[in-house]
Amino acid sequence: MRSYIRGLSYYVPEETLTNQFFEEYLDTSDEWITQRTGIKERRRASKDVLTSDLALYASQKAIEKAGIDKKEIELIICATATPDHLFPSTACILGNKLGINGTPAFDLAAGCTGFIYGLSVADSFIRAGAYRTVLVVGAEELFKIMDMEDRTTCVLFGDGAGAAVVCATEDEDRGILGFKLHADGAYGDLLILPARGVAVELNERVLEEKLHFARMKGNEVFKMAVREMGNVAMEVLEELGLSPDDIDWVVPHQANIRIIQALAKRINVPMEKVVVNLQKYGNTSAASIPIALGEALEEGRIKEGDLLLLVAFGAGFTWGAMVLKW
Ligand code: COA
Repeated sequence: MRSYIRGLSYYVPEETLTNQFFEEYLDTSDEWITQRTGIKERRRASKDVLTSDLALYASQKAIEKAGIDKKEIELIICATATPDHLFPSTACILGNKLGINGTPAFDLAAGCTGFIYGLSVADSFIRAGAYRTVLVVGAEELFKIMDMEDRTTCVLFGDGAGAAVVCATEDEDRGILGFKLHADGAYGDLLILPARGVAVELNERVLEEKLHFARMKGNEVFKMAVREMGNVAMEVLEELGLSPDDIDWVVPHQANIRIIQALAKRINVPMEKVVVNLQKYGNTSAASIPIALGEALEEGRIKEGDLLLLVAFGAGFTWGAMVLKW
């Protein structure tokens, strides 16, 4: 038994924030953001639209693409760093909004690596014979945890969601071939949202010191992201007896064009084989890989039978890679 993605889609909110938007009130420039990150614009969800709503819109489209009845879904996994609430989980809220109440559902917290972690869990449940149809979602509203006065974070991120219907198949020649996951909590402080869990007591200090917003030591994240994304990509390829030349498309986490270029160089894959759309959406964390994959599918770039390498790095730190045949 194998698992494969039967339907995949994405949703991004309409409001577009260009680099000029930040230029107007922050000490930053389109030139700096473009050169250092590759990002030109990103989407922002309005106040009354929640992460679970973005997850819902992406899921509805993915279910339609898969051509299944939503009642066939046996498990919902929602990878997110920006849940509607600490509890109930966004996956439970999504199940209710989809109208498939009773279906098991849980959130998965693995930062920007969340979608690869989610696909790995779905694949493992399916191979074990526990379920045949799993909905895996990556959904984020990062603007709601951004300090809009902090130029070192707020220009980098964006809102969006992607969803995949993962199904069982007896076909040995398609689907998820393998994955490798890692995490190291020793680096937790380098990318952290300090005060939305139980660690920090809610008082005036939280607002004064802006502990309810995301913080990042970008430079240190950058170095480790390049190294570990390269390592884990090679690790999964070696385990499967594949070489980078065998891969048709690399679909990396969309954080920074310089990280992606360095990764491509490290694993010796030409940039022509790398899916990049961060210029349009910024870093959408757990949503970035399914949005990139969804767009490449829409544009007809990724075709049936193509061998894909997904690779990501994020808060935790977490990192991982997966090879699948489309
Ligand atoms: N506009 C203008 N200047 C900015 C700026 C902005 N938006 N943000 C930071 N700077 C300044 C810094 O203050 C610093 O100034 P200084 O040298 O006077 O102190 C200078 O630019 C260089 O900062 P540095 O952090 O060394 O730049 P960098 O080349 O590492 O690029 C990031 C910064 C954040 C773009 C880059 O480190 C990065 O992308 N890191 C990974 C982040 C990420 O995506 N994490 C999510 C999980 S993968």
